[in-house]
Amino acid sequence: MTDFQRNAWNRAMPSRALKRGRMVHKVFLGEPVVISRTRGGGVFALRDLCPHRGVLLSAGRLCAEGSVIDGKTLDVPQIECPYHGWRFGPDGACQAIPCLVEGQEMDIGRIRVLRYPVRDTDGQIWIWIPEASDGPVLADTPEPDHEPPVSA
Ligand code: FES
Repeated sequence: MTDFQRNAWNRAMPSRALKRGRMVHKVFLGEPVVISRTRGGGVFALRDLCPHRGVLLSAGRLCAEGSVIDGKTLDVPQIECPYHGWRFGPDGACQAIPCLVEGQEMDIGRIRVLRYPVRDTDGQIWIWIPEASDGPVLADTPEPDHEPPVSA
């Protein structure tokens, strides 16, 4: 891939290659990305680096929406880091830090991994690689102003 593929839709893989409840590690323009398909069939993509210690999130597990973890039912699917178990939702926001104890005040939703716009259309999964996504991990990628190409 070259830089002209930034700020553009890039074909990631055939839709059928990503089963429900699975994650796939890919690299686009040198950026590690984890692409996930939820139990409900939706697709999302995040930077594949935990903001805590830089571990590949794709080496962890995808916790399905509706699963119960530590007595709480997940209302969104979450990717759990294999190292210390931080969990991130489809929007890239941190949903849980297991080592926090009761009374420890921390706005964990401010901890984010970069979220990439994705589309699952026409039998292909597309990912939008932004102009400069190697900035602060707090940054988010705005939705593109156009959709991926479709076959005739
Ligand atoms: S490295 Fe991911 S939770 Fe610590």
